[in-house]
Amino acid sequence: MTKRPAHSPAHSAPSGADDTDPHQQPGSLADCRRCDLWRNATQPVPGAGGAPARLMLVGEQPGDKEDQAGLPFVGPAGQLLDAVLEAAGIGREMVYVTNAVKHFKWELRGKRRLHKTPAQREVEACAYWLERELAHVKPKVVVALGATALRAVLHDPHARLNAHMERTTHAGGLAVLATWHPSYVLRAPDPDARERARAQMVEVLRRAHALMSGH
Ligand code: URA
Ligand code: SF4
Repeated sequence: MTKRPAHSPAHSAPSGADDTDPHQQPGSLADCRRCDLWRNATQPVPGAGGAPARLMLVGEQPGDKEDQAGLPFVGPAGQLLDAVLEAAGIGREMVYVTNAVKHFKWELRGKRRLHKTPAQREVEACAYWLERELAHVKPKVVVALGATALRAVLHDPHARLNAHMERTTHAGGLAVLATWHPSYVLRAPDPDARERARAQMVEVLRRAHALMSGH
């Protein structure tokens, strides 16, 4: 049941479209009010790619460009992701790409909308959609890009990226791998760190490629 403030008019619809309700079971992303992030975003950003797909990549949440385009990983992080996928011999058309959280969370700094890390309760609210995508896409292998994605995929708010980067975790019929988020690589403090992180991403994606191809 949706709680309504006492002063709401009795004749309004039983579930007000402007109420956030973590127990809502929406049929479409556009109707989702499971957390507050829908309020300040342009639109929800669903995953993209064919289904079924043997490999699914999970990011954190849409960025500024994705919020405007309604598509995942189309901005600078997406360009880096495309480059590392190519270096690992994986075409974007072979994978389903999505995010743990489907609405852009941001704060205004000057004139720019700066990314804000989603809260655990928002990741948990949005797992409703990630589970639906997993059921639809039926991947063999999931690569979590960054800690937020890893925690969402493993349903473990304490999972640590460092502990998973060289490991394959079998969970619920999936092989789960983890690597850096592409934005981490873009923000790396110096060219050496950047190159190291990028090479680690390529390495994990190669392992994912081998696993999804069954060798
Ligand atoms: N960062 C993400 O995690 N996902 C996107 O779609 C874009 C940037
Ligand atoms: Fe729903 Fe996810 Fe958007 Fe929150 S971020 S409103 S759970 S789609």
